[in-house]
Amino acid sequence: MPTVTYVFDDGSKQTVELPVAMSVMRGALANQLPGIVGECGGSTTCGTCHVYLDRSTEMFAPPTDDEDEMLEWTAAPRAGNSRLSCQLVPTQPGAELVVRVPDKQV
Ligand code: FES
Repeated sequence: MPTVTYVFDDGSKQTVELPVAMSVMRGALANQLPGIVGECGGSTTCGTCHVYLDRSTEMFAPPTDDEDEMLEWTAAPRAGNSRLSCQLVPTQPGAELVVRVPDKQV
């Protein structure tokens, strides 16, 4: 299973295993982790699943036009490694990634 380490604004971390093909956003919600809202359910229309991807950027395709546009409207500032976690779906069974969760989503 892929593993995702969520790093929160207070410096705490939590690592969870995701079923293959589950998004990083869904993984946060399924494990009741704070900081990721996922209000639109993954349709790239809310921006409340914003994360900063610390590494493994080569694991994912670049943002689509819809994701790129939505990243302009996130509550926390956009950075070069900003992504919508609903669009990050690890597909490799042993994949390991780290995402930083911003201090606000709305
Ligand atoms: S859950 Fe709404 S943009 Fe990702």
